[in-house]
Amino acid sequence: MDHYVVFGNPIAHSKSPLIHRLFAQQTGQQLAYDTLLAPLDDFAHCAREFFREGRGANVTVPFKEQAYRLATRLTERALRAGAVNTLSKLDDGTLLGDNTDGAGLVRDLTVNAGVSLKGKRVLLLGAGGAVRGALEPLLGEQPSSLIIANRTVEKAELLAELFADLGPVSASGFDWLHESVDVIINATSASLAGDLPPIASSLIEPGHTVCYDMMYSQAPTPFCRWASEHGAALSLDGLGMLVEQAGEAFYLWRGVRPDTAPVLAQLRQGLAL
Ligand SMILES: NC(=O)c1ccc[n+]([C@@H]2O[C@H](COP(=O)([O-])OP(=O)(O)OC[C@H]3O[C@@H](n4cnc5c(N)ncnc54)[C@H](OP(=O)(O)O)[C@@H]3O)[C@@H](O)[C@H]2O)c1
Repeated sequence: MDHYVVFGNPIAHSKSPLIHRLFAQQTGQQLAYDTLLAPLDDFAHCAREFFREGRGANVTVPFKEQAYRLATRLTERALRAGAVNTLSKLDDGTLLGDNTDGAGLVRDLTVNAGVSLKGKRVLLLGAGGAVRGALEPLLGEQPSSLIIANRTVEKAELLAELFADLGPVSASGFDWLHESVDVIINATSASLAGDLPPIASSLIEPGHTVCYDMMYSQAPTPFCRWASEHGAALSLDGLGMLVEQAGEAFYLWRGVRPDTAPVLAQLRQGLAL
């Protein structure tokens, strides 16, 4: 049976095995999918050992950049992102690295939530790995502007420069921004510590602005709470992104696109228990 894993450290909390098992059940695919705790200082060796037999792997914190270096071929979006969250062993032995995070985000926003990004003013908070992965797919939706705002402004400036050929992208500090935008995506890890990036509430036009937090949790995240309190038209968390990036990886490995909606509903219900 084809074997897949998700690499991470820590990894016991990962929802990927459940998601992929549900996809496999739904599409009648025979596969095994487990977690694999890689040592912090020995990801490459651990991954090479796995790929003697294994067919594919997801990669999560903190190994996405190491997976990028391990891959022997990269998709265009992984090359742009400088990070890999999906590895596939091809029949000729090639280890193909892809990054499905940004595609998952865009699919969750546009398909699941029905939010078109074309011609919209989009504000992206953060300039870490998740933003690197999201920039190409987001710019592919042709927003009228995409501002990257980050605590360390230099990192936002670097990313804006790196992706400038793909669309109207610019950099900013958090406190430089006051005028409302159409979509705000929080890709900082501030929520993990119960914090909010220090941004003005005037960025939200009540009843119009859509807010999206890449993080998810049982209770609304601090960013989602802030968005609702200031009248955002929609306040969404990143559980859908998680399921959609997995759906993209499953499609890449198995050539079958799973129906993500029932899997997302089951996960959401599981979070509420
Ligand atoms: N739903 C999904 O499938 C999915 C997928 C990927 C990531 N995520 C989530 O996305 C978030 C970012 O992940 P990442 O991999 O990009 O992390 P990362 O590479 O570590 O980057 C963290 C970013 O957050 C900023 N930051 C950290 N603490 C902050 C604070 N207190 N106030 C303001 N900014 C702060 C950092 O700013 P500096 O540059 O100034 O340090 C940096 O831009 C995490 O919450 C992660 O769980 C979700």
